[in-house]
Amino acid sequence: MTAALLNELRAIAGDAHVLTDRDLRASYETDWTRRYQGRALCVVRPGSTEEVSRVVRACAAAGAAVVPQGGNTGLVGGSVPRGGEVVLSLRRLATIGDFDTVSGEVTAGAGVTLSSLQQHIREGGWAFGVDLASRDSATIGGMVATNAGGIRVIRYGAMRRQVLGFEAVLADGGIVRRMPGLVKDNTGYDLGQLLAGSEGTLAIVTAVRVRLVPQLERRTVALLGVRELAGALEVVAAVRGELPSLEAAEAFFPEGVELVCRHAGIGLPFATHPGCYVLVECAGRRDESAELAEVLGGCAAVENSAMASDAAGRARLWTYRERHTEAINAEGIPHKLDVTLPLARLAEFEARVRGTIAAAVAGARPILFGHAGDGNLHVNILGLDPDDDRADDAVFRLVAELGGSISAEHGVGIAKLPWIGLTRSAEDLAAMRAIKKALDPRGMLNPGVIFPLE
Ligand code: FAD
Ligand code: MLT
Ligand code: ZN
Repeated sequence: MTAALLNELRAIAGDAHVLTDRDLRASYETDWTRRYQGRALCVVRPGSTEEVSRVVRACAAAGAAVVPQGGNTGLVGGSVPRGGEVVLSLRRLATIGDFDTVSGEVTAGAGVTLSSLQQHIREGGWAFGVDLASRDSATIGGMVATNAGGIRVIRYGAMRRQVLGFEAVLADGGIVRRMPGLVKDNTGYDLGQLLAGSEGTLAIVTAVRVRLVPQLERRTVALLGVRELAGALEVVAAVRGELPSLEAAEAFFPEGVELVCRHAGIGLPFATHPGCYVLVECAGRRDESAELAEVLGGCAAVENSAMASDAAGRARLWTYRERHTEAINAEGIPHKLDVTLPLARLAEFEARVRGTIAAAVAGARPILFGHAGDGNLHVNILGLDPDDDRADDAVFRLVAELGGSISAEHGVGIAKLPWIGLTRSAEDLAAMRAIKKALDPRGMLNPGVIFPLE
């Protein structure tokens, strides 16, 4: 059966696009953090939607499970095989299609990377509402599948808000296309929105029509030192209230800045560490740095500040935030817990979480950072064995106690599967299972992700 399936996949995608050799499979079998890995039966890289459809049909007929994969930058282990699945790489679907420069819409193949989309639309005067540090590898299909958030959610929302149309291959190989480019279309269930955040468990996204946002060139970034997260949240609230141009509001702490400085070979932003760093960015058609400075001047919490409006200066300040992920990864294999709290409980969570981790596993090393404006903190923990989930458990229980969510923007994947019941009721889970069963009755699409294997 395996040989017959491999032959069929070769006939569909071409010999060069069915990888069975161990070395060639390797980068598709380990996730970005190196915490999750598994063996694939093979990696298949179809070059068109029709080929994806035929690949899925062939796998369904052979009873082979499929793990869809885009840029493999996901952080919850959902993009790599667990054992013997076919990894279906969408990266070759990298065509950027119809670009409507009047309405600000474009169609992108699932495998288009975020940075290539950004470059493409820039010439027409448009930008994309979602931005992530993984922009050079993360794909539009993967971003829809995870409902990626990133640094601009406070202004433009997460990935699902950008989706105007989609094309997807269902578990039986059927193709659904809704690409009308309509802003309004209430004809039955919104399947595109259902796929956003479905993590490859309901269908395979092959193309997406997305809304664009105006390119705003006049940007000001302010990096501020405050005593504690509560002060950072006051600053964010003040800027949000006064300046609709607020586009990013991020928070991080000395432990992460130390790592970034060491990893990037740069100096500290201020002479001494404040208790908490907050970075805000405003963007508009005109320079608003004076207005931003005035709002910040009225914030008693601000102890240190650095502002930049030129591209190099802004990039320098962003480095302290954006390079957290790679600096942490360079230090070891982290447990990455991406959680949201109601804004009113975020500071309490931050004040308690380090103690919670220490009580669960002596010597574990937490590094926190995240999207303060969204109540979203990334609790990274170094010094744990990949399979030791005692600290994860303690953190997720604290999140649930404070009314938060165990997954803010990265998804459930396999990393959070045991805890999904902490923040979703039995009825809620049953409704989600019913949807999964209806669209993928044999459980062939990304089995073991979101729901445990049956
Ligand atoms: P993959 O990792 O390949 O896959 C992710 C999931 O989607 C898997 O479950 C996979 O099966 C499924 N999938 C992939 N493509 C498809 C498809 N075409 N159809 C159906 N299912 C599919 N995430 C954020 O939300 N915000 C951030 O700020 C952020 N910053 C990051 C920074 C760094 C440095 C890194 C490494 C990651 C970051 N991420 C962030 C996580 C990651 O980049 C996102 O989750 C991204 O959306 C994943 O896209 P991908 O193409 O790499 O998907
Ligand atoms: C980020 O905000 O930088 C990302 O979500 C990546 C991470 O959590 O490491
Ligand atoms: Zn994030």
